[in-house]
Amino acid sequence: MDSIRIVGGAELNGRIPIAGAKNACLTLMPATILTDEPLTLTNAPRLSDIRTMTTLLQSLGAEVAGLQGGQVLAMSSHDLTSVHADYDIVRKMRASILVLGPLLARFGRAEVSLPGGCAIGARPVDLHLKALEAMGAEIDLAEGYVKARAPAGGLKGAVIDFPLVSVGATENALMAATLAKGTTVLNNAAREPEIVDLAHCLRRMGAQIEGEGTATITIQGVERLGGATHPVVVDRIELGTYMLAPAITGGTVECLGGRMELVGAFAEKLDAAGVSVEQTKDGLKVSRKNGRVSAVDVTTEPFPGFPTDLQAQMMALLCTAEGRSTLHETIFENRFMHAPELTRMGARIEVHGGSAVVTGVERLKGAPVMATDLRASVSLILAALAAEGETVVSRVYHLDRGYERVEEKLGACGATIERIREA
Ligand code: EPZ
Repeated sequence: MDSIRIVGGAELNGRIPIAGAKNACLTLMPATILTDEPLTLTNAPRLSDIRTMTTLLQSLGAEVAGLQGGQVLAMSSHDLTSVHADYDIVRKMRASILVLGPLLARFGRAEVSLPGGCAIGARPVDLHLKALEAMGAEIDLAEGYVKARAPAGGLKGAVIDFPLVSVGATENALMAATLAKGTTVLNNAAREPEIVDLAHCLRRMGAQIEGEGTATITIQGVERLGGATHPVVVDRIELGTYMLAPAITGGTVECLGGRMELVGAFAEKLDAAGVSVEQTKDGLKVSRKNGRVSAVDVTTEPFPGFPTDLQAQMMALLCTAEGRSTLHETIFENRFMHAPELTRMGARIEVHGGSAVVTGVERLKGAPVMATDLRASVSLILAALAAEGETVVSRVYHLDRGYERVEEKLGACGATIERIREA
């Protein structure tokens, strides 16, 4: 298993290109199942999660070719041969459940392994299943699989009231509804930019959708969808992560492709902490306003609130802030696993259930630490950039799920960072 070695203390200055969004790409790829014509995604990120989705789609008989080094994904589900998403692939990545809605909508049948829990929480899929049941699907849970069947005439439009906001359930229902008979209304739908991007792509494919980006999405089912070419939206979580780099080390970094509307609530917190964020023609330019940043309180919420996927990275910054900050995690029940690792680097953090109180210290100190999940691992990298001395972050396969070329991107701005490859 590879690890990453960082010697902290250097200011970061330069420009970092932000890739296409992992979480958008992971829902845009299954959209290929909805049509027998080619779907091409440009600006795709080069990540292990994308390779896992590729393997899953190929196991169903789809063609998926990575062109231009993987930045273009040319897909076709013309000759799909299977509706069975196997446990061996699904267990590697929960987003695999996103093939369920499209399979059911186009083929009337799907068998998808239940993804099970994961490190950050239980993460059930009941809302995905209820939405599809409301559209007429019959669903059985047997031998660890979701076995779903559409009624004889195909899925039917329905009014679906989500009891809580779920990104994945909104995506599955949205994709399924594009081919259902009649009108579907999704109430309390997720408003994340990845949902908006999915709706844009589906519309290019011929879907009739209104209201994406608001809490109510209305879909008028169509007979069939066609091919399209669609650019994946910028990754707001990668963007936010790199915005934190100069905030924690000092210096000025311009995140290329960054747009304020993708990170509004997050940028407001940075501003309150004493970090300036400026929209330029190429992206977002970030630097500290004065010396040390100040403590701020943060509560994670569905978009447009502060994203749970930036909570760990924000905690790394607040470990070095002047004063005491409280972070409330409201989306996942177990998303503070980075706290004990940050503590190994000299941070002062107390976790009580869904809240963490961070008392800032002047300087973190390098230490050997271990990545526990994707966002936790990058929070350790941010902390290490600011820490005195050497940090080795092990188990970086978590990092590779969601960040491409971290060493190159940070190294180009002056960080001392290298990957230690295990033979
Ligand atoms: C998506 O996960 C993202 N993953 C996550 O990114 C992100 O943290 C999350 O949305 C929240 O923004 C992808 O897009 C691939 P949810 P998802 O359904 O769709 C509960 C990262 O680091 N819930 O919005 O699985 C659930 O347990 C990751 O890139 C149910 O109870 O998240 C959670 O508490 C990790 N029943 C809450 O809803 C359900 O059927 C929100 O989860 C579905 C969800």
